[in-house]
Amino acid sequence: MASKEEKIDLILRPFRYDNDRLNDIMGRLHKEMEKGLKKETNPEATVKMLATYVRAVPDGTESGDFLALDLGGSNFRVLHVHIEKGAKDVRLQSDSYAIPESIMTGSGEQLFDYIADCMGKFLEKIEMKDKKMALGFTFSFPCKQQGLDCASLIKWTKGFSAAGVEGEDVVRLLRDAIKRRGDFDTDVVAVVNDTVGTMMACGLADHDCLIGLIVGTGSNACYMEKLDNVEIWEGDRGEPNQVVVNMEWGAFGEDGALDDLRTAYDREIDEHSINKGQQIYEKMISGMYMGELVRLVLLEMTKQMLVFGGRTSPDLETPGTFLTKYVSEIEECTYLREPIGDMGPTMKILHSLGLKHATETDCGTVREVCRAVSTRAAHLVSAGISAIVNKMGRERVAVGVDGSVYKYHPHFKELMTQTIDKLTHSDVKLMLSEDGSGKGAALVTAVACRLAGNS
Ligand code: BGC
Repeated sequence: MASKEEKIDLILRPFRYDNDRLNDIMGRLHKEMEKGLKKETNPEATVKMLATYVRAVPDGTESGDFLALDLGGSNFRVLHVHIEKGAKDVRLQSDSYAIPESIMTGSGEQLFDYIADCMGKFLEKIEMKDKKMALGFTFSFPCKQQGLDCASLIKWTKGFSAAGVEGEDVVRLLRDAIKRRGDFDTDVVAVVNDTVGTMMACGLADHDCLIGLIVGTGSNACYMEKLDNVEIWEGDRGEPNQVVVNMEWGAFGEDGALDDLRTAYDREIDEHSINKGQQIYEKMISGMYMGELVRLVLLEMTKQMLVFGGRTSPDLETPGTFLTKYVSEIEECTYLREPIGDMGPTMKILHSLGLKHATETDCGTVREVCRAVSTRAAHLVSAGISAIVNKMGRERVAVGVDGSVYKYHPHFKELMTQTIDKLTHSDVKLMLSEDGSGKGAALVTAVACRLAGNS
């Protein structure tokens, strides 16, 4: 008979990756990247390697006042960004608006009217309704771009499903919504993915920042690729001989390439998601799913009488109740230890989920589950970044990173630094980008205005 510890280990073992496995994942992703970049194989590639029209990073001569919009998670942000020549950072003011689920899953017109409405409120507040500013739109979903200001949505991800937007140019939908109101005007110059915005924002402080990464509600990366390697590029091939490629790596595994690594819990998450069969790599990594993975593992452990004396609670049995932020909070105390006498964070969280019968030993097991799930995420992201770094072959490269999981998890950065170090020979620096995606959209806009000679 296996001991309790052995049974727990058996459940968690599939989440634990050694170096060989990580190297293997890197190889698989590298193959997909090549497939995505080549004209002939791109249609079957899961990792679409979307060419953006961003080809230059800020050179420090940009300046002016810009508006930026940031849509990609459960909050929508409007920003006013002031860029000064030569500055290592920008000045900004912004407001955040929650997007009700009814808007995320309603009609496209409702969604864009809501966006325009928030913009109107913001411009009124900062008293800039009469000033026509250039605008950068961070739209964090997979898009096929036909120009810097033209992007048709390929598919929704991350809980969005607003009808009538897939296949449409989101810049046109935004312009139409602004026109429908008629009380302010802007000049939409650029639409960018959040990974691109993040990379650009960090590029201001470090010119070697040529990779952008998001580990938040969703996950994705972009990097600067040589045009010669981008067969799918349809724009002009003049200087600069490079373009930022939005990988859309979240879709990796949609063809079964990760099937041997997926656990029963990963399959269950997918089964109950609104985009079944899609975004397989993302579902193993990002914040939208991390807490739910932990919940599913805990349910199985309860069933096997390994935790909570075999008794669940109605909350633990309800999807979505184990929030991803709990994973960070619980792992924080792995090192600080739970305070003696007072109830520690893990116990408090378990009590809030109706598990009043949890013991100190259970708290330890819950922490172990959180660590296994979040460590696997950090390992998968590190394998992804290392595949990019090795493909680029540079001696030094910086990665601009944003997203709630990376920002708030107590060990994610450290784990990534250690793992990337083992998987590459390059000097890789991870840079946290504060407000990167919105700021970056303004910077892309500023660069475009500079290149057009009208900044
Ligand atoms: C989207 C990407 C985005 C990522 C992070 C994914 O679901 O497809 O476009 O960059 O989330 O926000």
